[in-house]
Amino acid sequence: MFKINENYLKLPGSYLFSTIGKKVNAYCAANPEKKVIRLGIGDVTQPLAPAIVEAMHMAVDEMGKAETFRGYAPDLGYEFLRETIAENDYRARGCDISADEIFVSDGAKCDCGNIQEIFSLENRIAVCDPVYPVYVDSNVMAGRTGTYDRDRETWSDVIYMPCTAENEFVPALPREGEKPDLIYLCFPNNPTGAVVTKVQLQEWVDYANRTGSVILYDAAYEAYITEEDIPHSIYECEGARACAIEFRSFSKNAGFTGVRLGFTVIPKELKCGEVSLHSLWARRHGTKYNGAPYIIQRAGEAVYSEAGKAQLKAQIAYYQRNAAYIFDGLKDMGYTVSGGVNSPYIWLKTPGGMTSWEFFDCLLEQVNVVGTPGSGFGPSGEGYFRLTAFGSYENTVEAVDRMKTIPL
Ligand code: MLT
Repeated sequence: MFKINENYLKLPGSYLFSTIGKKVNAYCAANPEKKVIRLGIGDVTQPLAPAIVEAMHMAVDEMGKAETFRGYAPDLGYEFLRETIAENDYRARGCDISADEIFVSDGAKCDCGNIQEIFSLENRIAVCDPVYPVYVDSNVMAGRTGTYDRDRETWSDVIYMPCTAENEFVPALPREGEKPDLIYLCFPNNPTGAVVTKVQLQEWVDYANRTGSVILYDAAYEAYITEEDIPHSIYECEGARACAIEFRSFSKNAGFTGVRLGFTVIPKELKCGEVSLHSLWARRHGTKYNGAPYIIQRAGEAVYSEAGKAQLKAQIAYYQRNAAYIFDGLKDMGYTVSGGVNSPYIWLKTPGGMTSWEFFDCLLEQVNVVGTPGSGFGPSGEGYFRLTAFGSYENTVEAVDRMKTIPL
């Protein structure tokens, strides 16, 4: 008789955004006359920029002619895209990353979830609390997290690094005695929108090099950084090539949530003894993945064209205006708010001591606005709530106006 991977049975409930989706769909089915505004999942709403659409059209035409048709893509990504990324995202910022250290994929979520496969089950992970659920859940599935404490909503073998108002949502380095092997960091942070300065990030890089741990750095939201001295890549820090893997996405900077494209950077210096993590990931990628589609990789290349850059700057500014509108609007109403300045996420304290899910229900039922309950990201998220700036401007304004009718 076959057996299943019982680790899956340990997972409490369904994936956060599936749970929210089901709740909202049920509400909409029961109340078809209500216009629900969705500011929950960080899904973009603006159409693809013209430079990207044009590149895709051209690539489709190429695929339709025998002389330019392409079959399987190279499993690690086309050279034209990897070179363009290395030049624009790294060398232009003074980071020493070469094209062959970039692995193109169909998105950062898959890479963040899959990366743990190349590490031993004996490794101990450390995560921020609250945290993007994929990091923890993928380790639960692998069997690396121990047992679940339903009351505390924590795993016995995971090191949680609380991110609270007291530390401005930036985690402290692990305490004496806590020995993480794999440290997941995400800045600008999902869900809190917090950022670290280059000096703060350097401390993490130094810590990882000192203790022999690896930082799994999710930089999916770097395009939203507006302030100086906030690093866009961990490789801006000295020594990061020896201890860090970086994940990047085209979803939030270019609206590719439905197109699917991302990449992971693994410097060749990152080694466990004599074994390079680069070669392990290349082996894994080559075995389990057939490369992102040619048309999509050409679309990715267009993100870095002159026209693409200008159009996407305007698109990001559009969402940043939404973020500022939500941030200022909530502040004026008397909410305690953070994030939103270098991030498309606004993190607010729930009013009147409501739990995160109570506030979710209140917003959905009273003003038909959907957000994400902070507790869905971890125990330290309880009492908080996340709104996204990825809606249309009109919906954003309306959502904030509707929230004004809720007494604080
Ligand atoms: C989020 O809402 O946290 C993100 O959209 C999820 C994701 O990027 O997978």
